[in-house]
Amino acid sequence: MTDLTIAIAKGRLQEEALELLTSAGLGFSSETLSSRRLAVEDESGRYCLIFVKPADVPVYVEHGIADCGIVGRDVLLESDADLLQPLSLNIGACRIVVAAKDDTPLRQLGMLRVATKYPRIAAQHFGARGVAVDIIKLSGSVELAPVLGLADCIVDLVETGKTLQENGLGIIEVITDSAARLVVNRASYQLKAEAVGQLIKSLEVALLRRASGD
Ligand code: PRP
Repeated sequence: MTDLTIAIAKGRLQEEALELLTSAGLGFSSETLSSRRLAVEDESGRYCLIFVKPADVPVYVEHGIADCGIVGRDVLLESDADLLQPLSLNIGACRIVVAAKDDTPLRQLGMLRVATKYPRIAAQHFGARGVAVDIIKLSGSVELAPVLGLADCIVDLVETGKTLQENGLGIIEVITDSAARLVVNRASYQLKAEAVGQLIKSLEVALLRRASGD
């Protein structure tokens, strides 16, 4: 029986999250890391890791299937899950931006068509400015929407800026910064206080060590 189950967002964060957990003392064989298994135990047998789609991390943690999770702030802003967020992890740094071919559509009056994977963040952002928007929810490749005329602009995540650049788009406005966070189920935080506390402490030490370049 493991002490804690940790849900890891698959994709862009996965490798950095595993590196950080390794620096925090969890051990994984190379065979485990290269396998396609979606649930693995660390070598101590204390931790079980499950790999799920980013948007599903808050769901698994809120329902207590996972005690903890590692997921981007972008995903958390889009989720209404009731979770504790005790630690910001210095990995997966990116920005959530408004991007378009140019800023003309944003200077015009009338309904702005916004394509995004982040309908909640987009609605909040433009709502706060009193801009009327038609939000077009997409699941990916959002940069195509203004290029093909589906939308006037996008709200999307930018890491290196390469995808925007290669599709002829530029940043019009930065909405917020994002990085990965450790999230914890409320009941686990109380009932597994020792194990959760140990994990947080080990991650803090690993983050400090990485920040000082050790
Ligand atoms: C994300 C994001 C951008 C891209 C930005 O998409 O939605 O498309 O990465 O990264 P960059 O600034 O480093 O180019 P993701 O790779 O998650 O794929 P998706 O479009 O299928 O959601």
